[in-house]
Amino acid sequence: MNKKTISYKTTNSEVFIGNDVFALLNEYLRPYLNGQIFVLVDENTLNHCSSLVISSVENLNNAEIIEIPSGEESKSIDICYKIWKTLTDFKADRKSLLINLGGGVITDIGGFVASTFKRGIDFINIPTTLLAQIDASVGGKVGIDFEGNKNLIGVFNEPRVVFIYPNFLKTLDKRQMLSGYAEALKHALIKDEKYWKELQEGSMLADSLCWDKLISKSVEIKNKIVCSDPFENGERKLLNFGHTVGHAVESYYLAEDYLPLLHGEAVAIGIICESYLSNKMNGLSDIDLENIVQYITQFYKLTTIDSEDFHKLIDWMKNDKKNQNSKINFSLLKSIGEATYNHSIEDEMIFESLNFYNQITKPIE
Ligand SMILES: NC(=O)c1ccc[n+]([C@@H]2O[C@H](COP(=O)([O-])OP(=O)(O)OC[C@H]3O[C@@H](n4cnc5c(N)ncnc54)[C@H](O)[C@@H]3O)[C@@H](O)[C@H]2O)c1
Ligand SMILES: [Zn+2]
Repeated sequence: MNKKTISYKTTNSEVFIGNDVFALLNEYLRPYLNGQIFVLVDENTLNHCSSLVISSVENLNNAEIIEIPSGEESKSIDICYKIWKTLTDFKADRKSLLINLGGGVITDIGGFVASTFKRGIDFINIPTTLLAQIDASVGGKVGIDFEGNKNLIGVFNEPRVVFIYPNFLKTLDKRQMLSGYAEALKHALIKDEKYWKELQEGSMLADSLCWDKLISKSVEIKNKIVCSDPFENGERKLLNFGHTVGHAVESYYLAEDYLPLLHGEAVAIGIICESYLSNKMNGLSDIDLENIVQYITQFYKLTTIDSEDFHKLIDWMKNDKKNQNSKINFSLLKSIGEATYNHSIEDEMIFESLNFYNQITKPIE
């Protein structure tokens, strides 16, 4: 392995990060050369990523490409059917391999299809968005959406191995980059004050030479948490910081026919509201709250949420599959770099946090 490649062992897999990971991928493909290899892409990763991978990896010479449309709508049972059908038409067997080359949509659905086809075939992930590289790359959650509910159908199953090539981010648009960046902010806020300070220096996002550092720090933090609690009985709940309000905002925007927010954009709103709750309920200092809000407002377009609709957001929060006994469950910061989980918070306090958010926003256009 090249000295510049960074690697992490996860519960049952391994993640390699670096701009020379494809030589290693070639080696990992050897055991599959007697079977069939499939590469799942969408039109964007077909255009921007597939030729580089295929031309750099000799053992992919005979691989079959399976293309599905880009976008969250593809995380559906209909698209699963199409992929299962293609695998069947090509007579894929249990020795076949599926390589998922794309963002979180491709790695989620590809992982799910592979986990269920003939009771499970191996899959390898090559995440190509910042969100997928720093978040979906670790943790073994694969699945699809159902009846408007995100990730309702799925399993825990890890890829054989993950290869992260940071330079793929060069073709990703700024809005998508920032969406992924919200997860990096979350990782720093819940676990690593030093990382938070490094992020604030600014170059980690702006300078492509720093991307491997950004990705590896986030992967390291997420991986450590997941390894300590793979099935989310305790510590892993910390990763839900920003996501209780965030998921509700994401679903609300979708249901109300507003222009949909990207996942990380909703999480940025969630981080603001939940930092406010952390300040009121969990000892986060005023100065830390101000620091977080000030940093986030620099990057994200924050629009006002109609206060008449706050109850709808609360309803979405009550629907969250992570709740137990119908109480809304939060992970909150104690300070920057330290968080605790299992806080159930009264509706009134949540309303207050949404009002706090609205005070720093612009009216919807
Ligand atoms: N399994 C997990 O642990 C986990 C964690 C976080 C998010 N997710 C899931 O991930 C999904 C979101 O992932 P995402 O933000 O990567 O979205 P995505 O997969 O939809 O990708 C975003 C857009 O970028 C395009 N794209 C991908 N790579 C590109 C590249 N290198 N250059 C140019 N364009 C490129 C895609 O075609 C798409 O249009 C959601 O469904 C979410 O639920 C899963
Ligand atoms: Zn997230």
